[in-house]
Amino acid sequence: MKFQDNFLWGTASAAYQVEGAYQDDGKGLNVWDAYTQEDGHVAHSENGNIACDHYHHFKDDVKMMKKMGIRNYRFSISWTRVLPDGTGKVNQKGLQFYSDLVDELLANGIEPLVTLFHWDYPLALHQKGGWLNRDSSDWFAEYAKVVVDALSDRVKYWMTINEPQVFIGCGYAIGKFAPFEVHQAHDLTRMTHNVLLAHGKAVQVIRKYAKQKPTVGFAFATPCCTPESNTPEAIAEAKRKSFAFTKNRFPFELAWWADPIFFGKYPEEAYRILGNDMPEILEGDMEIISQPVDFYGVNIYESKATETEFGYAENAYIGCARTQMGWPVTPEVLYWSPLFLYERYQKPILLSENGMASHDWVQLDGKVHDPQRIDFMKRYLRELYRSMQDGAKVMGYMYWSVMDNFEWADGYDKRFGLVHVDYQTQKRTIKDSGYFYRDVINTNGEAI
Ligand code: NOJ
Repeated sequence: MKFQDNFLWGTASAAYQVEGAYQDDGKGLNVWDAYTQEDGHVAHSENGNIACDHYHHFKDDVKMMKKMGIRNYRFSISWTRVLPDGTGKVNQKGLQFYSDLVDELLANGIEPLVTLFHWDYPLALHQKGGWLNRDSSDWFAEYAKVVVDALSDRVKYWMTINEPQVFIGCGYAIGKFAPFEVHQAHDLTRMTHNVLLAHGKAVQVIRKYAKQKPTVGFAFATPCCTPESNTPEAIAEAKRKSFAFTKNRFPFELAWWADPIFFGKYPEEAYRILGNDMPEILEGDMEIISQPVDFYGVNIYESKATETEFGYAENAYIGCARTQMGWPVTPEVLYWSPLFLYERYQKPILLSENGMASHDWVQLDGKVHDPQRIDFMKRYLRELYRSMQDGAKVMGYMYWSVMDNFEWADGYDKRFGLVHVDYQTQKRTIKDSGYFYRDVINTNGEAI
């Protein structure tokens, strides 16, 4: 197994999940900062106030990445570190942190990939209506420009928004993620539309102001459904289900978000099913939303099977292998998703996340042995390779996550890292999988 020479091998993180330092150096509060100070939202009432304290440990963390042979690092910018109120006054110290991080990465031979928004929405803007406010896309464009002005002399790869399906779905539909609200379809479609406008305007800003030719995309959630057998009928059915619009899945599903970007329109079915709940679309909106992107970034963990009246069904059976999150181990999803997505949207795919949580701890010999994760990575990467052999164009693979971190509503129990973090001491220990990944990268796939 040899991946192409320019394949982007990397790993990923997100600001709120690793940085901590939630009030340092002039940072403003975001909705996760604000609402997780109240008990009961997150397992054990934990929060990201300190997290991995990456804000203070970034130099050592970059060294550790270098030790693992990491070549690309996808991280996100904390909007309120840069603009404490979301718009207006820029916090130079916050911006400096990211500039220093980028310098440190480049000095260690690691290419930075920047995500502008990974769920930590400014509290001040939330109080002005957040994504429900039609101005929200302009707020995002203003923020994007500040970041692009500061970093684009060194940063080439950009992702606008991470998993809109999930932060809208979990944050505003089922109330599981900050700001822990429950809205109905009428509001949710409007939020969606504003998020898509924000994405489109950010793409425009990046293209207009970047100091070197940028490579721009997003990082979506939502894998494709996998076929029940290899017959042409089963494959066609899996494809149909992957891109169908169903009310039960809304707003978690795929084509609702991706079709407007690539085809300049919402899925036909959505009009029939949502009726008066469809968002108001002003002249020029779809043109902004459908700005050309350079790649389709997607975070994939598990395959989905059929639809039920409750939305997606798991692709699981009694006693199947499950990760610590309870997600079924379904490597074939990395075969089918890139193929289906590439066929439909015709853009190179970036696996912007893939990985697993497992019950890792530092063992008596001082090491972290995580054979399940190594096996998981082998199985998923083999399927990804097969997908590429069969025609999917894939740019790269970012393992989630570089280190254990704050797993949103699940807090710190769920460990996704290649590196173990002791949250009492902030000691990092590279897991066996971290060394395995180093070998994969160094051999460009042969070690898989
Ligand atoms: C997707 C999200 O982007 C990331 O923040 C999260 O930690 C992982 N999935 C694992 O759930």
